[in-house]
Amino acid sequence: MMEVLFDRVPGEPAGGYGGNPRWDGLAVNFVESLDGVTALPDAPGESGAIVSGGSKADKFVMGLLRACADAVLIGAGTLRAAPNDLWTADAINPDAKDLYRRIGKLQPPLYVVSGSGNVPQPKQPALILTGKMTAQQIVDRVRADGHRRILCEGGPGLFSELAAAGLVDEIFLTLSPRLYGRFPADGRKALTDLRDLRGMPLELRSLRREGSHLFLRYRR
Ligand SMILES: NC(=O)c1ccc[n+]([C@@H]2O[C@H](COP(=O)([O-])OP(=O)(O)OC[C@H]3O[C@@H](n4cnc5c(N)ncnc54)[C@H](OP(=O)(O)O)[C@@H]3O)[C@@H](O)[C@H]2O)c1
Repeated sequence: MMEVLFDRVPGEPAGGYGGNPRWDGLAVNFVESLDGVTALPDAPGESGAIVSGGSKADKFVMGLLRACADAVLIGAGTLRAAPNDLWTADAINPDAKDLYRRIGKLQPPLYVVSGSGNVPQPKQPALILTGKMTAQQIVDRVRADGHRRILCEGGPGLFSELAAAGLVDEIFLTLSPRLYGRFPADGRKALTDLRDLRGMPLELRSLRREGSHLFLRYRR
């Protein structure tokens, strides 16, 4: 069970989250180390699971947000890093499957964007949008299928494009009690990448704790 330290989000609680996880528009979900690392190029698979240290609470939140989403959106870099992963609520945390089913969708549709088209076939049904698009075109394309509540699960490249275009409404961020360090050109990535976000201001909406992990939720 997560400890609720601060919560300004009105609405019905959902499961062990202790508050309403639903958002309006487009949200992103990431885990980063205390020194801001989200992606490790030499990771054997998805960096998030390594950065989180396999946190069960982080997996719970990932599943919860997927269950609340009408659709999940990822960049090709995230799929290339973990071609065998599934971006579904029940796959990330089977223990909470019944709760997720009550809340929403166990397997929201997955959208992958790739300018190059150089992506492996995901292990789940997915719509792969190929060719360079603007951030607005990406969101419009997902919305055209009737999806309002979109969950972007990264990576930093796609998130930064969406944020720079002013399209990110909420940020769910798990702060993992780990330090990695950085070297010039080491390939490690921060939460954002290759975009000047000019000190974009954010408002804290809620803060939860489980052990030494913090679960932050911000609104733009
Ligand atoms: N810590 C976390 O919570 C977390 C979450 C997610 C991912 N990650 C990690 O982050 C790393 C991947 O992140 P990343 O920044 O390298 O990649 P990414 O953001 O997942 O994907 C970037 C790619 O998406 C495609 N793309 C982005 N914007 C596009 C646009 N406007 N139009 C068309 N295609 C577009 C391009 O694909 P093409 O190259 O095919 O053109 C681009 O290279 C992995 O190591 C992953 O494990 C960590």
